[in-house]
Parts: sequence; C-alpha cells; structure tokens
Amino acid sequence: MIPIALVVGSLAAQSINRAMAEHLAAQAPAGVAVQPVQIGDLPLYTQDRDAESVPAYDRVRAQIKAARAVLIVSPEHNRGVPAALKNLIDIGSRPYGQNVWQGKKVGIVTASPGTFGGVHAGLQIRQSLQALGAEVLIAPEVFLSRAHSALVDGKLNDERTTSFLNQFAAGFYAWAAA
Ligand SMILES: Cc1cc2nc3c(=O)[nH]c(=O)nc-3n(C[C@H](O)[C@H](O)[C@H](O)COP(=O)(O)O)c2cc1C
Repeated sequence: MIPIALVVGSLAAQSINRAMAEHLAAQAPAGVAVQPVQIGDLPLYTQDRDAESVPAYDRVRAQIKAARAVLIVSPEHNRGVPAALKNLIDIGSRPYGQNVWQGKKVGIVTASPGTFGGVHAGLQIRQSLQALGAEVLIAPEVFLSRAHSALVDGKLNDERTTSFLNQFAAGFYAWAAA
C-alpha cells in the first residue's frame, strides 16, 4: 500500500475543509492508504524541546516521514495559515537537520466560504514547504471559494465542485504514486 498522509488545517467540528478532505480521501485509488494526521493535540513548537522526546511530535514526524506524499486541506485564518497547521509545519521542520518535509511530495487544497477560496493561506503553505525542500504539486491548484454552498448536511453534494475535486484527486494521486 502507498501511504498518503492527510492533514486538515481546521480544528472545527463542522469543518468545510474536513468535508472536502473526506471526499478527496474517498477518491484514493486501490493500493493507496490515506492516513489522517491529527494536529489538534500538538503542543506549540519550541526549539527548547528539540533534545527531548515529545510523543505527539514524534508521532506526526513519523507519519510525515513514512508517507509517500502529503495532502493538506486547509482553511485560511486572517489571510494566513491556521496556527495549528503552521505548528505542524514547524514541528516537522526540526530538529535542525531532521526536516521531514525535505523532498516530500505535497498537494495543497484550500476552501473558504469567502470569495478568495483561502488563496492567501494556500500560497503561504506552499512558500513555507518549498523553503523546506518539499516538492509541492504545481498544478492543478485548488482554492475553493463559496465552498459552504457545495455542502449539504456537512457532506459534499454539488456536481460542479465534485467533478473539479475529482479531477484534482486523480492528478494528485497519480503524481503521488509515481
Ligand atoms: C480566526 C478566523 C479567521 C478567518 N479568516 C479568514 C480569512 O482570512 N479568509 C477567509 O476566506 N476566511 C476566513 N475565515 C472564515 C473561514 O474561512 C471559515 O470559518 C471556514 O468555515 C473555515 O474553514 P473550516 O470550516 O474548514 O474550519 C476565518 C475564520 C476564523 C475562525
């Protein structure tokens, strides 16, 4: 099985991005195992703890390291990357010399009820990960605007959005597995 780590940048119980992520996970082809990475319990990163073993840090670093690729599905908070997701990026980047993002394939999707689809966060996530040596999927790019209107009872239920996401999923999984 090809392991793909799935990171949802939202901690909200009724998250639009989690609904999109669940749909994308369900599109994984045979032979791909999508493994969610929990980020809500991660203590805020500080380099002061680089020398000690922090079980929650060890867990996510191992998950990212073991994954063939990572799929990040995230909202935008105040025109930027949600703090919990940035914390994961920072945790994975350290201790110095043990950056788990180096060479990692990463696909990024953002979704927002607003007009810009979380594009600011999407581009910031890309910038951080590229600086860390990740191989970030260039195209297709996905910034889903008015994303709430594609959900019914918290699940994706809109033909246009589904078809768009399925196209992305096909491209992402093929690239990740290559
Ligand atoms: C602290 C905070 C800041 C936000 N800032 C933005 C923003 O800059 N741009 C945007 O499009 N939406 C913003 N929103 C609205 C989110 O897009 C909206 O809450 C969305 O549902 C978040 O995705 P989620 O449902 O997956 O958590 C913000 C929401 C919160 C809670």
